[in-house]
Amino acid sequence: MSTSSRAYRATHKPEGAMESVIPEFHAVAEERGTLDQAAVAELARRVSLPVAAVRGAVSSYDDSHVNPSAIRVCTGTSCMLSGGGEMLRELQKHYPCHGTYCLGYCDRAPAAMTSDGYVVPNLPVAMLNVFAQGGPLPHPAPSSIRTVSRHAIVNARLEKSIDPRGAAPEYTGLRAALRLTPEQVVEAVLASGLRGRGGAAFPTGKKFQLAARAGGSPKFIVANGDEGDPGSFIDRELMERDPHSILEGMAIAGHAVGASRGIVFIRSEYPVSVDVMNVAIRRATDAGFLGKDALGKDKPFEVEVVRGMGSYVCGEETALLGAIEGMRGEVWPRPPYPIESGVFGRPTVVDNVETLNNIPWIMEHGAAAFAAMGTAESKGTKALCFNKGFAKPGIVEIEFGMPLGDAIFKLGGGGTGGVELEAVLVGGPMGSIVTPDQWDAPICFTAMAKRGINLGHAGIVAIPKPADWGAMLKHLLAFMRDESCGKCVPCRLGSTRAYEMAMNGLSRRDLPNFERILGLMKEASLCAFGRETPGPVKTILEKFGNRIFPEGGR
Ligand SMILES: Cc1cc2nc3c(=O)[nH]c(=O)nc-3n(C[C@H](O)[C@H](O)[C@H](O)COP(=O)(O)O)c2cc1C
Ligand code: SF4
Ligand code: FES
Repeated sequence: MSTSSRAYRATHKPEGAMESVIPEFHAVAEERGTLDQAAVAELARRVSLPVAAVRGAVSSYDDSHVNPSAIRVCTGTSCMLSGGGEMLRELQKHYPCHGTYCLGYCDRAPAAMTSDGYVVPNLPVAMLNVFAQGGPLPHPAPSSIRTVSRHAIVNARLEKSIDPRGAAPEYTGLRAALRLTPEQVVEAVLASGLRGRGGAAFPTGKKFQLAARAGGSPKFIVANGDEGDPGSFIDRELMERDPHSILEGMAIAGHAVGASRGIVFIRSEYPVSVDVMNVAIRRATDAGFLGKDALGKDKPFEVEVVRGMGSYVCGEETALLGAIEGMRGEVWPRPPYPIESGVFGRPTVVDNVETLNNIPWIMEHGAAAFAAMGTAESKGTKALCFNKGFAKPGIVEIEFGMPLGDAIFKLGGGGTGGVELEAVLVGGPMGSIVTPDQWDAPICFTAMAKRGINLGHAGIVAIPKPADWGAMLKHLLAFMRDESCGKCVPCRLGSTRAYEMAMNGLSRRDLPNFERILGLMKEASLCAFGRETPGPVKTILEKFGNRIFPEGGR
């Protein structure tokens, strides 16, 4: 769809039409078991859009191409390193299977998910009989999570083991916020120094301030629960075990900016998160924390869940908002930024799930207590996710400032079985491969960026020695090619050409051309996907090229 048709949709949304059309995508697919021509026509009728527009949108999502009864086998970085690719090939001999990039069980890789949404972690070949049995499986136990910071924020309620499907807990942070004016809430979030945990590290208070000033109504708060980075699973844990902290953070954000609507966007690979968040919304509405008078008499704040359809790039805020409107999962040029023109052209705050989880704590304990933790540029705490390759996989909440090496050894326990690590991949495929010479870097958005490290969402994947860097290179390039949304030329063509070159046997002679392609992606791509994914690939060439090209490397 063109920009003008997006503008058309924003201003001409039919009276009474649903705010979010993806639920209709899922409903029609589930009713008919497929999204064939007739289903697409039915969907177009239901959402009042032309058939061609709906066909174009649906076809851009991975889920529309997957056999609904297929087993999804993870081949994301953590699972790839634990034999996920072999598991996919083995299971394919017996069942319809589909490779996917992360199921949020990177601490128990390799993982697979049945068509009913049951995840089978730690997948050895023997688990074939699990699938043969059919019927309901037990959901995996929660990931291990602990806190080593002065205060538990992310872990504040997780460690109390509140039943996430039970009655809503007291929304004490929201109560504290409602005693303040919206301007005072914005001031408090600004003073806390909170920066977004979704990767871009934008100051959250600044975002609130701009959204509060933006004209247009209704305003929206969108919780980004897309968590696509293989290696990260904190957002899944938060949505499944502490959904109310996210809803509470959204309601506080709603009070701060004058929003009355909330949407929690959750990737389809997290069906339990979808279920738990829906239950929590009902409980919070029953308790009056959400709904008609949530933010004061006749000041509503209503929240709904929108389930994604399989697309990494839909974690990017403009692609995510487009997906909610029922368009292709593609990035849009900014400006305008979502705070001015987001869902259906209305001012919209998009915040990561972990960012929102921090906000009730700030309201309850004060901005100063939050700002007293961490470094000058990165305040508060961060959940680090350690994958299966560590001796102690799981989640640890730290105060910003801890050296990366301390996290790797003291918290992650180093490589599993005492194996030496050659590097770690921090922040997923848009993050950085960090070798031991850089492990003294403090975990801090700014200090790491100065050393060329992208913290991203702070998933940490162990790369044991001796690493197969050729395989890692191909893995990262395959991810790039598979997940590019195709909107801009440098990334659309660059990701494909770079992958083809690697698969056709990259030689030393090809390197200048290969590096030129990566360089063009970095310089000219529309979004951070195309600009950042070449980073880890280039690090492999620079630091381990001699291992990939025996004839002498670079
Ligand atoms: C390709 C791509 C994927 C992204 N995926 C996510 C994601 O899964 N979750 C997330 O919170 N932010 C993701 N982001 C960042 C969002 O665009 C946005 O900056 C973030 O949701 C804002 O929330 P925050 O300020 O709380 O970090 C992604 C960005 C890009 C470019
Ligand atoms: S950089 Fe890649 S993911 Fe981002 S807009 Fe361009 S094609 Fe899409
Ligand atoms: S579950 Fe496989 S990489 Fe996350």
